[in-house]
Amino acid sequence: MQNAGMNALGLNWRYLAFEVPPTRLADVIRGCRAMGFIGLNLTVPHKLLALDLVDHIDPAATEWGAVNTIRFEYEAAPGTWRPLSEFTGDRLPETRAAGFNTDADAIIKSLAEDLHITLEGKSVLVLGAGGAGQAAALRIAKSGVKHLHLVNRTETKLPPLLAQIQHQNPDVTATAGYPKTPVDLVINATSLGLRSTDPLPYDSRAWDISDAGAAYDMIYRPAETPLLRAAREAGRPTANGLGMLLHQGAKALELWSGRPAPVDVMKHALHQQVYG
Ligand SMILES: NC(=O)c1ccc[n+]([C@@H]2O[C@H](COP(=O)([O-])OP(=O)(O)OC[C@H]3O[C@@H](n4cnc5c(N)ncnc54)[C@H](OP(=O)(O)O)[C@@H]3O)[C@@H](O)[C@H]2O)c1
Repeated sequence: MQNAGMNALGLNWRYLAFEVPPTRLADVIRGCRAMGFIGLNLTVPHKLLALDLVDHIDPAATEWGAVNTIRFEYEAAPGTWRPLSEFTGDRLPETRAAGFNTDADAIIKSLAEDLHITLEGKSVLVLGAGGAGQAAALRIAKSGVKHLHLVNRTETKLPPLLAQIQHQNPDVTATAGYPKTPVDLVINATSLGLRSTDPLPYDSRAWDISDAGAAYDMIYRPAETPLLRAAREAGRPTANGLGMLLHQGAKALELWSGRPAPVDVMKHALHQQVYG
């Protein structure tokens, strides 16, 4: 997806994947900076660790509690930092690592595009409160939802998250546990569904899928998870997380390059890569 996007923009860049142990993340960020990398994407388990390892944090990354994109920047004028991609000199200048989060907005974009859902005044059930679930819950709460219901296997993760949601969005009713009345949307942000043998990500004795107007699964491989199958069989519209993956990547490319991302090219490449 990224290489297709970079090619389409005519950039002589390459996007490569590296497996990095969490204990070496600081070294890796420093090393990439020293070698003149344009930027980085980070995934599990680095997104939270990176908050403390970058030189500058975009306010959205602080707000959503995670960094998934780093942009290396040079000081174009005293106190003015610009993307390294804009540097035209011969010698690599001193740079800083700036941390961003492109995940949170990507889910809102994907919900609008793939399920035609806008969240204002809606009731939403979010399953899972790991890194992605927390960022999604905080972002969705900010989108004007009326009721937010949160369920997580480890229940102790919920009270601090609920407190943060209420503090930032006093108009939203946020509660732990399955809703007693129908919701407009259920979102799976657990890792249940990644394997073909996985059970449903919710307790079907406590809650029924027909009580959701639509279902979204952050998982995109397999294309249809147990949640999405159950929702489809109940006649509900469904979407998987491929759109979220696409839009977080497109936004990252825009941050690095300073140019609009060729989203259609990236989407095509992503579909080819993930589904063949
Ligand atoms: N589409 C995208 O672009 C995108 C982006 C990010 C993530 N994702 C997907 O979202 C999911 C969560 O990612 P993450 O980064 O939040 O991972 P994470 O921080 O490891 O969180 C995992 C979540 O799944 C729950 N969980 C794991 N095993 C479970 C089980 N056996 N029973 C019940 N709950 C279980 C965890 O509950 P506990 O808190 O109890 O451990 C936690 O809520 C993954 O499937 C990932 O692939 C997709």
